Amino acid sequence: MFLVRLVYASTISKGNTESDISQILDTAKQHNASVDVTGALLFNRNYFLQCLEGSRLRVNEIYHRILNDRRHQNILLLDYREVSEREFGDWSMGYIPEVAMTTPINMKYSVSKQFDPYSMSGESAYKLLLHLSQVVKTV
Ligand SMILES: Cc1cc2nc3c(=O)[nH]c(=O)nc-3n(C[C@H](O)[C@H](O)[C@H](O)COP(=O)(O)O)c2cc1C
Repeated sequence: MFLVRLVYASTISKGNTESDISQILDTAKQHNASVDVTGALLFNRNYFLQCLEGSRLRVNEIYHRILNDRRHQNILLLDYREVSEREFGDWSMGYIPEVAMTTPINMKYSVSKQFDPYSMSGESAYKLLLHLSQVVKTV
């Protein structure tokens, strides 16, 4: 079974808070590690941007769970492709908090100063996550 990468954007549902995000992360880290899925999750301006990488079967299974999760809405698939290698191999689900994002980093991959994953191409969204993961790892 080969590797795939999936990137999607979504919006946090009303009434959900930072503590819900830490619960989401706990589940994600535990479950993803058990099925060899890796990736990164960014939360910024009420938006989630997430990348999942792993076997097609496992990534597909997780994406289905995520689609049914009421803690977020307006889930938009930005990119799905077969890949030859992982980029987040050391992260079962690495979290990228709001503070990691600066205007210059966002501007590098976006059409405007305000972060809006719904206006990003799949490639730019993926590259933004990759860039921010390096920032988080070096802090
Ligand atoms: C933004 C967001 C990201 C999530 N990421 C993952 C993930 O990477 N892996 C995972 O197993 N669950 C993730 N979840 C949680 C799943 O939606 C689901 O609640 C969890 O896998 C438990 O599924 P179950 O209730 O069907 O057992 C995420 C949820 C949200 C809202």
